[in-house]
Amino acid sequence: MRSRRPGLLVSLLAGAATVGALLTAAPAHAADPPLRDLADARGKVVGTAVTGSKLTGTYGEVAGREFNSLTPGNAMKWGSVEPVRGRHDWAEADRIVAFAEAHGQQVRGHTLVWHSQNPGWLTDGTWTRDELSAVLNDHIDTEVGRYKGRLAAWDVVNEPFEEDGTYRRTLWYDTLGPDYIAQALTRARAADPGADLYINDYNVEGVNAKSTALYDLVKSLKERGVPVDGVGLQAHLIVGQVPSTVRQNIQRFADLGVDVAITELDIRMQLPATEAKLAQQAADYRSVVSACAAVDRCTGVTVWGFTDSDSWIPDTFPGEGAATPYDENYAPKPAYHAIAQALGGGGGQPADGCTATYGVTGQWNTGFTGQVRISCAGASLASWKVSWTYGEGQRVSQAWNATCAQSGAVVTCGNAAWNGTVPDGGSVTFGFNASWSGSNGVPVVTLG
Ligand code: XIL
Repeated sequence: MRSRRPGLLVSLLAGAATVGALLTAAPAHAADPPLRDLADARGKVVGTAVTGSKLTGTYGEVAGREFNSLTPGNAMKWGSVEPVRGRHDWAEADRIVAFAEAHGQQVRGHTLVWHSQNPGWLTDGTWTRDELSAVLNDHIDTEVGRYKGRLAAWDVVNEPFEEDGTYRRTLWYDTLGPDYIAQALTRARAADPGADLYINDYNVEGVNAKSTALYDLVKSLKERGVPVDGVGLQAHLIVGQVPSTVRQNIQRFADLGVDVAITELDIRMQLPATEAKLAQQAADYRSVVSACAAVDRCTGVTVWGFTDSDSWIPDTFPGEGAATPYDENYAPKPAYHAIAQALGGGGGQPADGCTATYGVTGQWNTGFTGQVRISCAGASLASWKVSWTYGEGQRVSQAWNATCAQSGAVVTCGNAAWNGTVPDGGSVTFGFNASWSGSNGVPVVTLG
C-alpha cells in the first residue's frame, strides 16, 4: 500500500502537561495522491535521477512511491560503466533498472556520448578518426544492447552545443566532426529499436541562440532521416529566473515532430533557504511543469535528484542548494506541492488523516520543554514536517527526534532519518527545549 500525502486536521494541545484543552485548527496540506499517480492520469512522466546505492530505506520508499521514471544520475555514464577499457561494471546501473522494473517505473538511459565523466583511457588516448569511430560504435552497441527492450529512452548525445549555438569542441567533434551525432543516433537505433532517442542539453529551456542551434540540428537530422525522437531540456534553473519562453520553445520542437522531455529539473538558490525563496521556487517549479503539461508532445518532467540530500548543486555551485522538491529529511517542500498542482492535483487540499498536537511538558522561569505528536488514523506518512509561528518571542534551542530550525518567529521541524514513517493508527513524537518570557501561549501547528 502506498502511504498518503501529509494529512491534515491539525489540533493543538494547549498549555502545560496538565492542560487539557484540545482545539482543532485550520487544515494544512493534505492527501494528494503520489506524483506518479497524478502524472499517470495525464499520460506524463514524473521522474527523478537516482543514486543506485541509496535505493533503500526512506530514499527508496519515496523514489518508488512518487515517481514513474528513474534516470541513473551517474551510473550509466561511460566513466562509470567502463573505467578500464574492456572491463565493464554494470552493478549500479543494473540495480537501478531492477528497482525500476520492480516498481513499475520507466528508465531513462543517461548518457552515451558526452565530453564529461569519460574514462581516462578514452580521454587520454590518441585516436585516429577510424579508431574513435569504432570505439564509439562499440560503446553504444554494448551499453544500449545490454538494456535492450528495458529502457524507455536514451539521452544519446549530451550537451553538444556552446552557449552561442556553435558546436562544443570535444573529443567527438574534433575527431569525427559534427556527424558524430548522426552516427551515435543511428547506432543506438540499431542496438535498441524500442528506445526513444534524445539529444539533451542545458540552457535550452527558453528560446535563445543555443536552443535555436538545437532546433536547427534536429530539423536537419529529421530531413536526413537520422533517427531522433526527442530533445531533452535539462532545466538546471535558478530561483526567480525561469525563462518566459519555455512553453513556446517546447511547442516549436513539438511542431518539428519530436518529443520534448524536461530531463534534469532543479531550481537552485543561494543558501540559506528562506520561506520567501522556497515560495518563489514553488512558483518556478509550477511554471516549468505547467509548460510541459500544456504541450501534448512534452512527455514529462524528471527532477535531478528528489531530495536536497542527494543533489549535485552544493558541490558544483558553492553557496547554492535547496534545489529539489524535498528537503534533506525527506519532508516535501512547497515545490513538491507545486508539482502536484501542475500535474492536476490539489496541491494539498484539506482531508482527514493525520494530525499534529503541540504540548508543553515542563516549564520553568525562562525555559520550557515542548513536545509535538504526529498521529495518523485512516492515512499514513512516509515523511513529515510541521511548522508553527510563535507570537511571544519564544525560541527553540534544541530538539530531539526531529530536525528543527527557527527563522524569526517561524519554527520548522522535519522528521529525523529514523522516524519519518507514521503508520495508519500510529504516532511519532519529538521534543524540544525553548526559551520564553512574559507568556508562553500555544501556537497553531501546521502539518505538511
Ligand atoms: C551530474 C551528477 O549529478 C553529479 O553527481 C556528477 O558529479 C556530475 O554530473 N548535466 C548532466 C548530468 O547531464 O549528467 C550532470 O550530472 C548534471 C549536469
